[in-house]
Amino acid sequence: MAITKTKQPAFHITGETGWINDPNGLIYFNGRYHAFYQYYPHATNWGPMHWGHVVSTDLTHWEYLPVALAPGGESGEDGCFSGSAIVHDGKIYLMYTGFWENQGGESIRQLQCLAESEDGINFKKRGIVIGENDLPKGYAPCDFRDPKVWCHNGEFWCVVAARKYDGKGRILLFKSNDLFKWTFVNDLFDKDSLGVMIECPDYNEDLGYMFSCEQFQPAEKGVHLNVHTSRWHVGKLDYSTGHFKEENRGIVDYGFDFYAPQTFAGAPVMMGWLNMWDRNLPSAKYGFAGMLTVPRKVSVVDGRLYQTPIVNSTEVLTTSVHGRFDDKVVKGVVTINATGLEKLSLKMRSNGVNYTELTLKDGEWVFNRSKSGEAIIGVEKDADSLNGIRRMPCSMKRDITLTIVFDEFSVEIFEDGRALSSTIYPPEDACDLVLTVKADSCKYARADVE
Ligand code: FRU
Repeated sequence: MAITKTKQPAFHITGETGWINDPNGLIYFNGRYHAFYQYYPHATNWGPMHWGHVVSTDLTHWEYLPVALAPGGESGEDGCFSGSAIVHDGKIYLMYTGFWENQGGESIRQLQCLAESEDGINFKKRGIVIGENDLPKGYAPCDFRDPKVWCHNGEFWCVVAARKYDGKGRILLFKSNDLFKWTFVNDLFDKDSLGVMIECPDYNEDLGYMFSCEQFQPAEKGVHLNVHTSRWHVGKLDYSTGHFKEENRGIVDYGFDFYAPQTFAGAPVMMGWLNMWDRNLPSAKYGFAGMLTVPRKVSVVDGRLYQTPIVNSTEVLTTSVHGRFDDKVVKGVVTINATGLEKLSLKMRSNGVNYTELTLKDGEWVFNRSKSGEAIIGVEKDADSLNGIRRMPCSMKRDITLTIVFDEFSVEIFEDGRALSSTIYPPEDACDLVLTVKADSCKYARADVE
């Protein structure tokens, strides 16, 4: 059945029609940013995974290219799962997980494969490069996926999510001279994850951090409330031992809808999937399900991950706010600069009855989407999740900059390098923004995306 495209976000990557999840193969190549993503073009639910493909020069306006990888063909895989990209000898190589369903359960095979392209558009599959026999003893080839590849001192290295039989998530390190033949180096942390399986590991040598995602991890002191979570680990890989020396760790995004972050090869920029597994996706009726976050500039500041949104936008309004200020915002970037902030309440996408709210309370940003519009129902049963609430620490600095990226179906909120991202499905007439502040001074600015 053909899917009809109706409403779309203005500058967030979707599959246009069909389903998408994780960002894949993010790479800066010959003056353009390439983003690939897990894609099922034929329905608005997860299905046999393809790699969709878009390119951009400014990270805001994206051009859709043909599907880069499709399951089947000679390799006969049932899905092309997540992975990464690297440039070598002028070609883009995609390293991805081939998924063979077989009879399900333990007979599933997830093995690491390679595809190459000279023009950055048409990709040729080159087959399995890390197979079942390359896995160390005791690790299950049915849960072995999401390779992230990079080059260090003229050698190729990659991390892959794995699991020991009867164990939980692990991250394995492999190395290679030519991208085709890989040898196992070590198990990075040498211990099980808290969640049942790790997914989408990502190591950034230049910035000194790694990401990992955990399925069904337990909540920790009011964070990691989503059923699946993304963590940052600041630290360095010791190439001589193959162990990761972790100095600090935290949650990548405090919102409801964020998973599978990946950093671009060749640029300090990250994107994640702006959705969550095990929830309904109300946008399916508009012809698409799933989108990526806006790109975020990433760095490590004071030992933690620091993110700021990248949106090519033009300032169209600035004003000082004393008490209350009203605007209309559906798409664009709002920046609130406050000095000596005591109170802040922000109603977004409001029509008086439906609205999404952000409030500063006891040193925390409290986000509430319980009245935002269409219900988004997940499997989480804690009080905050049931009440539509997510929380993020506020820096409580004397000068506070709060940045909010608005687009159809989402808000991404940033303060002092932390992020809180969530989808919302408000009614069409819910366009009002109402800001109430108590501060020594406060400036409001809105920028539009052309
Ligand atoms: C993460 C994930 C990956 C896998 C892909 C399949 O969201 O489960 O581990 O490769 O999605 O689409």
